Amino acid sequence: MEYDFDRVIERRNTNCTKWDRVGELFNRQDALPLWVADMDFPVPKAVVEAIKERANHPIYGYSYPPESLYETIVDWARRHYGWEIRKEWIIFTGGVIEGLQSAIQAFTRPGDEVVVQPPVYYPFYRAIKHSGCQIVYNPLKLDNGRYTMDLEGLKHLFVGRQTFPIHQPRIKMLILCSPHNPVGRVWTRDELTRLADICINNNVILVSDELHCDLLFHDARHTVAATLSEEVAQRTITFMGASKSFNLAGLATSYAIIPNPELRQRLLEVRAVRNSGNLFGWVAMEAAYRYGDDYLTELRQYLNGNLDFFIDYINTRIPELRVIRPEGTYLCWVDMRGLGLEPLELQNFIRNEARLALDDGFAFGPGGEGFQRFNLACPRSILAEALGRLEAAVEKLLRK
Ligand SMILES: Cc1ncc(COP(=O)(O)O)c(C=O)c1O
Repeated sequence: MEYDFDRVIERRNTNCTKWDRVGELFNRQDALPLWVADMDFPVPKAVVEAIKERANHPIYGYSYPPESLYETIVDWARRHYGWEIRKEWIIFTGGVIEGLQSAIQAFTRPGDEVVVQPPVYYPFYRAIKHSGCQIVYNPLKLDNGRYTMDLEGLKHLFVGRQTFPIHQPRIKMLILCSPHNPVGRVWTRDELTRLADICINNNVILVSDELHCDLLFHDARHTVAATLSEEVAQRTITFMGASKSFNLAGLATSYAIIPNPELRQRLLEVRAVRNSGNLFGWVAMEAAYRYGDDYLTELRQYLNGNLDFFIDYINTRIPELRVIRPEGTYLCWVDMRGLGLEPLELQNFIRNEARLALDDGFAFGPGGEGFQRFNLACPRSILAEALGRLEAAVEKLLRK
């Protein structure tokens, strides 16, 4: 193993959102942070080297993404997902949420509706509202510890709207989270096909946030929605990036892939610049994709170990909680409804009794109440400390 993911690296006092903002955001300085989705692991060595090399040249003026970066992304999509993309389909964005916001602005008008499937990554809501659109929920279904998409419910959403007096379906877009943050589903080809068919039948743009696609547990396999068929590709905007897989979120650089030239043109019309992101973000992404395969393999092995450890610990020592086993991402969604606490009581319990900084389930929208999201991308010793705190707090709560 080249990487030692067990090593604890002090992140405090580095303007690190996850660690340095805990006091301010959770009102509890000593809460152990397993919240926001970045990793307490170093980036691949090749990334550090590439940034150092570029940093050595002392002028950081206006720049553009190099040809070699486009080639690297094309190669990555082909090698990992069997997706043949073309250079001109790629638009770099300053993070996925920045790109998503442009996509909503480009393909909707204020008042239009956008479907999301909660519980889901909460910045989607802000992006929709900031564009003056309405959020339409198609909540996921939870049966026997497994989440699925409510595809029948989704069909019905359109039926209701098509009979609206104006005879104009107002749903213009569906935002898919694939793999799904926070519940960790890696959607199957069949599920994606059925979802895409509904989008096609109702003339809806599919925005597919696939930022977590490289992060798969055990034998999970990711299907890129746009590879389902040419028809799906022509109405899909896919967001990807190296920021989750290689821990580069602070470099605020990712990309959209848009095969349909008209959609691409419309997206570019609402953007002040074609490509955003930045010089160091592009350098880092290229190095990660070019030289990061071994890192990713080792990382996934380590995350598998963390997940097994986490699930085993909770099942054997805190059986009042139920872990929703994730297939992808490095996040883990835990059902704490068995503790019998109201959402705000649970928040208080997690922060002040367990002394943990986690993401509250209710923040992810309907269906999230009573859940907490853990970030497992940390050295196992930190995870063990977090679980120990949680176990002690639950014991104390139940003894009362
Ligand atoms: C599903 C998903 N999309 C987007 C983002 C944010 O990406 P960015 O930092 O590139 O805006 C995250 C971050 O956690 C995420 O989980």
